[in-house]
Amino acid sequence: MIIAVDGPAASGKGTLTERLAAHFDLARLDTGLIYRAVGAKILRDNDNPEDPVVAVAAARALCFTDLKQDGLRLEEAGLAASRVAALPDVRAVLLAFQRDFAACPPNGKMGAVLDGRDIGTVVCPDAHHKLFLMASADVRAMRRYKELQARGAEAIYARILRDIKERDTRDMSRSAAPLEPATDAFVLDTSDLDTDEVFSAALRYINPQNS
Ligand code: CDP
Repeated sequence: MIIAVDGPAASGKGTLTERLAAHFDLARLDTGLIYRAVGAKILRDNDNPEDPVVAVAAARALCFTDLKQDGLRLEEAGLAASRVAALPDVRAVLLAFQRDFAACPPNGKMGAVLDGRDIGTVVCPDAHHKLFLMASADVRAMRRYKELQARGAEAIYARILRDIKERDTRDMSRSAAPLEPATDAFVLDTSDLDTDEVFSAALRYINPQNS
């Protein structure tokens, strides 16, 4: 079973994907972390995330352990991620890694749930189930603000809102794999839903006969 979960920043993809992975015993891949790790490496090297030569080299050098480093959830890594993610050659390098994960999930799992921006449209267009989560920019910025505060990180609401809007614009307007729902995706507005309600709605879509 392959489940694709797409949507903009802080739309609730991560929480839902974790719960779906536990519920159906699937391997989970947060594909945003891949782009964040590439962006973070370039920032560490004081290089330009928009330079295709630099970004492709960083993408090629990526290994699985890079996804576990600290600091990837910071908004500056998210912004660098959205810059490298706009480069078609970077996406091409990272595509095989994501498809391999879906085709051969690790740890003997019988399927995978992947979350990102283009899972249902490009990475796994044949996924059995496709969800596209959305929510207003204000709601998403407030979620990210609370998440950062809970982790004791510096959080300024107005800055988070600005950064999220900047990423939304870049992710939706790029020519390579822009952020958009697959034509066969179940689109869910999570603005007024808590995490339990989002999970229940996802289960109803995946298993309509059980609801
Ligand atoms: O967690 P959040 O939703 O804020 O972002 P993320 O999923 O970690 O993704 C960070 C950035 O990576 C996004 O803004 C996208 O530009 C890029 N990305 C992408 O282009 N394609 C994916 N499949 C996943 C992430």
